Amino acid sequence: MITVNFVCLGNICRSPMAEWIFRDMVEKEGLSASFSITSSGTSDWEEGSQMYPPAVRVLSKHGIEAKHVARQITLADIKNADFVLCMDSGNKFDVLRLTAGMYSEKIYKLCDFCTHPRDVADPWYTLDFERAYKDIFDGCRAFLEYLKSDRAEGFAYDRRHGL
Ligand code: 4NP
Repeated sequence: MITVNFVCLGNICRSPMAEWIFRDMVEKEGLSASFSITSSGTSDWEEGSQMYPPAVRVLSKHGIEAKHVARQITLADIKNADFVLCMDSGNKFDVLRLTAGMYSEKIYKLCDFCTHPRDVADPWYTLDFERAYKDIFDGCRAFLEYLKSDRAEGFAYDRRHGL
């Protein structure tokens, strides 16, 4: 089981989009049982809020139905995760501040796995949720390919045992 926690600032736009895009991706590959997938925000600003409606709409446009309640990340979440995948450099900085530099080996930016590493475009001010979707989809795809090359045996085991 690989535990993945996607992180942004508010946990109402980018990281829940990433959570549900990645859920959909691994489900289509028959790998859902190999993962525990969640998301969280570095701030408590949106704690308890639902996903921002334009984020829900762009997911829906791409055939993904999501349900979500925002929550702030804790140190325990980071300790329990195998991968903490931040949407941008600011989020990664904030996570590393929370851990006082600990667990840095599992704290990445999602698009570190892409051919062209970058931040996920923040739709909060631009309202360009389609661009954010594309960046997140690319990042999730590249991350899954990385895992499939790195952990092929584990996935094969899960599949063989019908997990
Ligand atoms: P997110 O977007 O970090 O992708 O969920 C934002 C949500 C809320 C705010 C900023 C970005 N805010 O300023 O409240």
